[in-house]
Amino acid sequence: MHDTCKTEAAVPVNPAFKEQANIQHEHLYTLAAHDPQAYWNLQAQKLSWFTPYHAVMDGTFAHARWFAGGTLNLAYNCLDRHMPYAADRIALYCADELGGMRTVTYSQLLEEVQKLANGLKSLGVSKGDRVAIYMPMISEAVVAMLACARIGAIHTVVFAGFSAQALADRIQDASCSVVITADGSLRKGKMLAIKNTVDCALERCPEVKHTVVVQHSSLACSMDLERDIWYHDLLADVDAVCAPEPMQSEDAAFILYTSGTTGKPKGIIHAVGGYAVGAASSMELVFDVKADDIYWCTADVGWITGHTYVVYGPLLLGMSQLIYEGALSHPHQAITWQLIDQYKVSILYTAPTAVRMFSQWGDALPHNYDLSSLRLLGSVGEPLNPQAWHWYYKHIGRERCPIVDTWWQTETGSIMISSLPSIHAMKPGCVGKPLPGITVELVDDLRMSVQQGTGYLTITTPWPSMMRGIWADEARFRATYFPNDRYDRYVSGDAAHVDETHDIMIVGRVDDVLNVSGHRIGTAEVESAIVEYIAVAEAAVVGKPDAIKGQALVAFVLLKDGYAATEELAVGIKQQVVASIGALARPDEIIFCADLPKTRSGKIMRRLLKDIVQGNTLSDVTTLANQDALALVAQQWQHAQQELR
Ligand code: WTA
Repeated sequence: MHDTCKTEAAVPVNPAFKEQANIQHEHLYTLAAHDPQAYWNLQAQKLSWFTPYHAVMDGTFAHARWFAGGTLNLAYNCLDRHMPYAADRIALYCADELGGMRTVTYSQLLEEVQKLANGLKSLGVSKGDRVAIYMPMISEAVVAMLACARIGAIHTVVFAGFSAQALADRIQDASCSVVITADGSLRKGKMLAIKNTVDCALERCPEVKHTVVVQHSSLACSMDLERDIWYHDLLADVDAVCAPEPMQSEDAAFILYTSGTTGKPKGIIHAVGGYAVGAASSMELVFDVKADDIYWCTADVGWITGHTYVVYGPLLLGMSQLIYEGALSHPHQAITWQLIDQYKVSILYTAPTAVRMFSQWGDALPHNYDLSSLRLLGSVGEPLNPQAWHWYYKHIGRERCPIVDTWWQTETGSIMISSLPSIHAMKPGCVGKPLPGITVELVDDLRMSVQQGTGYLTITTPWPSMMRGIWADEARFRATYFPNDRYDRYVSGDAAHVDETHDIMIVGRVDDVLNVSGHRIGTAEVESAIVEYIAVAEAAVVGKPDAIKGQALVAFVLLKDGYAATEELAVGIKQQVVASIGALARPDEIIFCADLPKTRSGKIMRRLLKDIVQGNTLSDVTTLANQDALALVAQQWQHAQQELR
C-alpha cells in the first residue's frame, strides 16, 4: 500500500493529570495480554448480573458468544443499581439553543423509564420486538432507549436528520411495530416538525401499530387517533414500577443502521452483555472517570457515539452529563465554551469537524470563558489532523488537558484504539494504541503483517462489544467483515499507519464509504438517490477534501437524452438526495458530464474521479475503456472549480 504517512513527535501529558489519574493501567495491559478471558471477566464483574455466566467467551471469532448463560439488564445496570448511593445525583443536565435548562436525577430517570416501559407494554411491545426512536437530543430520547432495554425490546434509533424515506427503509428492514418521536426538534434556531416526517414515513410502514409522541414544541401536530398517543398521556395511566427483564447476555440489545460500500445501510446488531462490558470498561479507562466529573459528549443519540458514550457508557458508571439540543453554532459561536463554563464541564468529547469549525471562528472566542473545569478532551469519528489537534490542545485544553483521539466504529460498539493519558504520551494526528484486550494488526495486500508502515486495519481476536451480525443478512456480514477464508480476523474497512513506537494513525476508509463531518455516508446510497431523479441516467459520487467537514460530496452526473444541464437541475438533484437520505448527504457539487470513465466491463472508475477531485496524478488507467470521457470529465471539473472561485 502506498505510504506517505509520517507521525508527529510525541507531546508529554501534563504530570498533574498523571498523578491524579485514578486508574493505573499498566497492569491491565499485562493481564489482558497474558489472559484475555481473565481481563474481560474482571471488567464484566463490575456490572450487576442476575445470574452468573458460565463462560467468558466461547464460539468462533465471527460468532463469538460472550458471558453465555449470564443474565442481566442494561437499564437496571444504568439506573437501579446506582440508587443506594446516587438517587439524587443529576444524571442529565439538558440544555438547548433557546437557553432552556432542565435537570434529571437518577431516581427521576428511573421512574420515567419504568413508566414508559409499562406504557410500551400496554401498547403490546414485548421482549425481542423492534421499536424505532426518532427523537431530538432531549431527556426523553434517553428514557426511550432505556425503556426498551428494560423490557428487552430492541431499539433502533434513527438520527432525526434522516428523511422520511430513510426512516421508512429502516423501520421496514427491522420490522418495527412502534415508533417513539416528538412533535418538534430544535436545530439552528428552527423547530423542525419531525412528527410530519414520521407520518410521511409511516405511509409506507403499515406494520407500525403505534407512535408515541413527546410534546416538545408549540407546533401544530396532527395525531391519528387510532395510532398515535402522546407520551404524557401514555405515562399518566401506568404503574410506576416495571421489573427489569432478565436478558440473556447474547440477546440483541439494539440495531443501529450504518452505511456500507454497497446497497442499503446495514442494521448492525449488538448484544446485551458484551456491549455493556465494552461500553462501561472503555468509558472508565479512556476517560479516567471520577465521581465528580461533569461530562459532555456532543454526539447525537442517532449515532453509535451517542449510544455508547451519551447513553450507556456514562449511565453504566453513574456519571453526570450535559446533553445539548441544537447545533454547536447556535444561538452563537461561543455556545460550547459558554456551556462548559456554566456547567463546569470536566470532560469534552467531540468530533474533529467541530474542532475545525471552532478554530475557523478564531482563537479569541474560547478565551472569553472560564474553561478551567476541563481536565480531559476527546475526539472521535474522523482523523483529528495535527493542525486541529494543536488548536484544540492550546486554545481549549490550555496545554493542560490531554487529548484522547479514539478510533472505533458502529460495528465495534466501543472504543478500540486510544492512547490512555495516564501512561502514554500523545502524538498529534495519531489515535495511539489498542486498549487492553484489543489486538489489532495492519496487513498488506498479501495479508502479510505490517510492523511499520501503512496497511489495512484488522482486529485479530474477538472482543465483547463486537457486532453480532447484520439484521437479516448473514451473508453480507461474513463477506464484509470476515472475508478471509479462515474467518480469522475482523476487517475494519480502514487503512492505518503504524510507526516505530507502535502508535497508530488512521488514514481513512479503503472502501466506498465517505466521512462527511464524521458521518458515514455510502457513495452507493447517494448514487442511487441521484438516479431516482427523472433526468439522470448515471451518477458517480466521490469525496473531495474539505477544510471543515473532512470530506465533501461531489457527484458526477450523466443526464438522459433530452435534458440540459442547468442550475435548476443541479438544485433538483440535491433536493432529491435530501428527500431520499437527509440533508447530511446533500452533495456540495454536481458536475454534469457527457460520459463517465468506465472499465471495459462497464464499471464506473470512481478511483479516477477521486484522483481528479483530489488533485492527484491519475492512478493506473490500463483498464479504462473510454479515455476521451476521462479527459472531458477532468475539463468539466476544472471549469467548475474556476467558476466557484
Ligand atoms: C472513522 C464512529 C480517524 C473510521 C465511532 C471508521 C475515525 C469510521 C476515528 C466509523 C478516529 C472513527 N480517527 N477516523 N478517531 N474514529 N473514524 O461507524 O473511518 O460512524 O471506520 O463510528 O469513522 O464510523 P462510525
